[in-house]
Amino acid sequence: MAVTGLHTAYVPTLPAHTDPDTDQVLDSGLLHELSHAFGGPFHFLLPHRFDANLAAFRTALSDAGVEGRVYYAKKANKAAVWMERCAAHQAGVDVASAPELREALGHGVRGENIVVTGPAKSEELLRLAVLQGCLIAVDALDELDLLITLTLTGAVRPARLLLRRLPPAQPHSRFGMNAAELATALDRCVRAGNAVRMEGFSFHLSGYATQPRADLAEELLDLCLKARVLGLQADRISIGGGFAVDYSSADHWHTFLAEQRPEHYHANKTFHTADFYPYHSPVAGADALRTILATVPESGTTTLAERLKETGTLLMMEPGRALLDGAGASVFRVQGVKDRDGYRIVTVDGTSLSVSEQWFNSEYLPDPHLVTPSGRAHGSEVHPACVGGASCLESDMLTWRKVPFPARPRVGDLLVYPNTAGYQMDSNESPFHDLPLPPKVVLDRLGGRPRWRLDRRPAC
Ligand SMILES: Cc1ncc(COP(=O)(O)O)c(C=O)c1O
Repeated sequence: MAVTGLHTAYVPTLPAHTDPDTDQVLDSGLLHELSHAFGGPFHFLLPHRFDANLAAFRTALSDAGVEGRVYYAKKANKAAVWMERCAAHQAGVDVASAPELREALGHGVRGENIVVTGPAKSEELLRLAVLQGCLIAVDALDELDLLITLTLTGAVRPARLLLRRLPPAQPHSRFGMNAAELATALDRCVRAGNAVRMEGFSFHLSGYATQPRADLAEELLDLCLKARVLGLQADRISIGGGFAVDYSSADHWHTFLAEQRPEHYHANKTFHTADFYPYHSPVAGADALRTILATVPESGTTTLAERLKETGTLLMMEPGRALLDGAGASVFRVQGVKDRDGYRIVTVDGTSLSVSEQWFNSEYLPDPHLVTPSGRAHGSEVHPACVGGASCLESDMLTWRKVPFPARPRVGDLLVYPNTAGYQMDSNESPFHDLPLPPKVVLDRLGGRPRWRLDRRPAC
């Protein structure tokens, strides 16, 4: 890669896949207008991409002839518009707290379409979930006891529940129940009689591999058959989330991993490559679901899809990141530019809390786009720069990496981090330094000039 001006060293690049919808927004001129209007960073959301991702998951199910339900894992992004889309499409939502449950209900998602996950759920959350007819993924025996007690003492309907399996292949997970605990839980469900409706089992696995998901799903099917013998309903399983998102090409990703070194980062910062999200995934999103359904589990002889059909079992899943693939980006304005030895430090008008990969000792790697007032910067020049936040903390870096920008970033330019809707935008945002939380803008119509609205109306 050619290097120009004050710059002397090669720096690796990781461009995101080309995305015509995002490019159209970048080229529309709207982002500079909005940056001026808000006077700070903001995120834009593309709900039609969420709709398309949801439809792709549903098509994967129908192509395999499998009865299934998709629940959007709400933790991946706090915007209201995703709840609105779920309500409109009769899709489910996975919530893990009372405020998340209230949000989903408040935006029109029916209680029966909500699954409540997360460990050690509060009494408030359990009570609300039972009242609204939500399905509760029970994480532990004491939670089951609390739920049964709540239901026996005044609930208007039985508690709908799944029992969450501790993944045998991830024995250090703090979630779910082991085989002995599940046996006890089944016994308690039988004894609880009409107070509970035991609808099946669930798991969520770390990582993105498909085979372990098919393997554990097969184990849950066996558990369902055993539970049915005990007189329990047990007609569904949830395989949780963890459907990968493919942010960048195989070539770019593997080259990046092979070439990146501490000198490519501000202050020679080192990251362990194992802590990076796998920014390239050969099988991602709804295709990962197709693969899981077509997989023959290790202990089986037919595909998971066939086993689900044979056993009359409904398949639930809780994708977060994958439903948000391509559905949003984060926009910061360059507020200052400093020269350093061979690179620049760009300071933007927000903080790293809006690009939340630092939760994982990592950083968000897809290259931000540089958008000048007259359009996207293009060309073969290389102007390496890291990106700092507008705070007084050394560690507040949106990007430690020296990104090879095609032009010298200038005050007033915008940096647009692509494809941030899944977990990056708002998981960690806080009003640090009394800075307001970046607003979210929904772009409802693409084609011609995008039309925008705020995701939430400002409070009066
Ligand atoms: C129980 C459960 N379901 C679903 C998800 C969503 O995972 P992803 O966004 O990777 O699909 C998570 C993520 O932590 C989870 O814990």
